[in-house]
Amino acid sequence: MTAKHSILILGSGGREHALAWKIAQSPLLKDLHITPGNGGTESLATQVSIAVNDFEAIANYCILHTIDIILVGPEDPLVNGIADYFAEKHPDIYIFGPNQIAAQLEGSKDFSKQFMQRHNIPTAKYETFTKGEENKAFDFLETMQAPYVLKADGLAAGKGVLIISDLEEAKRNVNEMLDGKFGAASEKLVIEEFLDGIEVSYFAMCDGTGFTLLPEAKDYKRIGEGDTGLNTGGMGAVSPVPFAQGAFTQKVIDQVIQPTVEGLKQDGINYVGFLFFGLIKVNNEPMVIEYNCRMGDPETEVVLPRLKSDLLEAILLAREMRINSYQMDISNQTASTVIAVSGGYPEAYEKGKIIQLPEVSHKRIIFHAGTKKVENKTQTSGGRVLAFTGLGENINEALSNSFQMAEQTSFEGMYYRTDIGKDLQ
Ligand code: AMP
Ligand code: GLY
Repeated sequence: MTAKHSILILGSGGREHALAWKIAQSPLLKDLHITPGNGGTESLATQVSIAVNDFEAIANYCILHTIDIILVGPEDPLVNGIADYFAEKHPDIYIFGPNQIAAQLEGSKDFSKQFMQRHNIPTAKYETFTKGEENKAFDFLETMQAPYVLKADGLAAGKGVLIISDLEEAKRNVNEMLDGKFGAASEKLVIEEFLDGIEVSYFAMCDGTGFTLLPEAKDYKRIGEGDTGLNTGGMGAVSPVPFAQGAFTQKVIDQVIQPTVEGLKQDGINYVGFLFFGLIKVNNEPMVIEYNCRMGDPETEVVLPRLKSDLLEAILLAREMRINSYQMDISNQTASTVIAVSGGYPEAYEKGKIIQLPEVSHKRIIFHAGTKKVENKTQTSGGRVLAFTGLGENINEALSNSFQMAEQTSFEGMYYRTDIGKDLQ
């Protein structure tokens, strides 16, 4: 494999900076492009400003720059059918991401629950309801125990899951959701059993015929210390996850990942791309909470730094439908990432604050998320601003590297959780 490749990455978060950072290290890379990117990716890639859902403009750009592979970061263009668009109009350009039907594993909770049920993949008991079925939904709630888990069927920017302890409040929310609380996303409502356990995520790269496994990770979703307050996109992550090793990982492969990949094939769904398994470990058994049709953010910022293998080489093998034979070489080091956010996030926050950044090294990596460069200065431009990824021989060393970078960074209103990873120490 001596031919070199021109790659376009879609997206603008810490995940996409980490993808760009990893791909940029590949000897198989000719040139790297990103849209829209952020203040951290412009030193790694040619940065353009095309909307990730403007498939025609993306195609024109790819033709102009002889790009042969597109790596899709976020779910939106996947759920909107970017892979189908290119398969039909520009089949020479390989999209590493699932087509529209396959992306329904993330795009529709009802679709993914039906899929899991059909293929005996362990998940919480559930039922789906639509407008007019409110009374049936109340009856179902009455058969369940608190807390009640209500999920909008469609994509709702990470806000579509409600966990409610009071039955009457749960019923009120059934009405509100079916009345369009989350717009079209909650025209269908999934009610499921609450699972009590600890969360961990696994990631696979799939090529339609098989898969290879990436390192697992645990993320920290709430804004406040001790997992309190509002849900966010993710405030930090750690990999490896000490409670998800050996025999448990084997169960995840045998009971979840393998049956998912086989189930997709049986259903005639060609799944290409990253596949994210959001799990809860209940009584030492894996249960699936959700699938995502992409990598996680901030999980990518701890998964990729542990990967010794060449990610581009793996993607090229996927293009040849040979990913099954690829054994990822994974470092024994621990990686942690701590996210610095704008004051006020996940609610309203200000942008345009100048950021002072510290020195980095091979054990201290900063991935940018909501940043942009203005006249050579880095400014905040989003809620999640920076990911401080520390590496170490153990979790203490990794976290100490993450937190030292956080302490040496400043912008007005900067906030980060100081308890990331402490439960695993
Ligand atoms: P989801 O968007 O489906 O990943 O749900 C968001 C978050 O809600 C998950 O990361 C869990 O923390 C929580 N959650 C979702 N479903 C359940 C469940 N059945 N039992 C307990 N917690 C859940
Ligand atoms: N960190 C969770 C996600 O990317 O969905």
